[in-house]
Amino acid sequence: MTTHADDLAQRIGAPVELAGVAVRRPSKVREGIDPALVTTDATALVKRGDIDVVVEVIGGIEPARSLITTAFEHGASVVSANKALLAQDGAALHAAAEEHGRDLYYEAAVAGAIPLIRPLRESLAGDKVNRVLGIVNGTTNFILDKMDSTGAGYQEALDEATALGYAEADPTADVEGFDAAAKAAILAGIAFHTRVRLDDVHREGMTEVTAADFRSAKEMGCTIKLLAICERAADGASVTARVHPAMIPLSHPLASVRGAYNAVFVESDAAGQLMFYGPGAGGSPTASAVLGDLVAVCRNKLNGTTGPGESAYAALPVSPMGDV
Ligand code: HSE
Repeated sequence: MTTHADDLAQRIGAPVELAGVAVRRPSKVREGIDPALVTTDATALVKRGDIDVVVEVIGGIEPARSLITTAFEHGASVVSANKALLAQDGAALHAAAEEHGRDLYYEAAVAGAIPLIRPLRESLAGDKVNRVLGIVNGTTNFILDKMDSTGAGYQEALDEATALGYAEADPTADVEGFDAAAKAAILAGIAFHTRVRLDDVHREGMTEVTAADFRSAKEMGCTIKLLAICERAADGASVTARVHPAMIPLSHPLASVRGAYNAVFVESDAAGQLMFYGPGAGGSPTASAVLGDLVAVCRNKLNGTTGPGESAYAALPVSPMGDV
């Protein structure tokens, strides 16, 4: 933010001032940050009452949830990158934001830099989205792509993903589909203007996919991807969300998503088929999404308005597998 402060100010129409930075390790050198702004007391910072926007990039449920609700109570809007929290408590947080007349934006929570939340929540709000198919986990897409292109087994491909820094030392959240399931919950809620929680999402990881599965898929003109699949029932009365490895035809646009990239394929009544594609993780892509939200929230503030709140959502029943 500090390096683009003038650009941001011009786009917003008012200067942006960094009020403080709450950190765990204050001794760490942070380039471009005035050390006087660094604090370990995040609660005191969000309680100050003179802050317009709090950016939460802590991750996890607590203390992020308490800090966000405290921020709303003390007059701040929130930009968050926290998929776990939004997948679990998105409805309650939106309600808290609305109660206090504040904004809650979280473009960085799903698929990094790829604009998805606001296009689904705002640009497509006049359309009817029926299905969202997403490759929303870069680590598993890297592994599956490696298996597909080289004939490698799961463990060999995982080892390479770990060596290259894509997979974490404990890859469970990625390979067992927990990360993708959280993103599926958020996407389904936004796409269908309803509320879907992580617990509503059926989840299967991709650790059982074998080199033989890829050979069989190839014989059928297909490849295998770990997909987040969110669908509206044909009668419109319920929605489903699930994550599992799926065979997709090589002719489908998602089949061409290689390496650690993400892509989300959206089918709607009026727009037809759309695909959103790009880097789904990493510091710069996340920063791009966070700063975009910051600009949007500041513009809303200057205009005396807020983005869509909890009352823009209906309560549709959610079933993990639907009729499939
Ligand atoms: N581990 C995640 C991925 C990072 O591989 O896509 C972003 O949530």
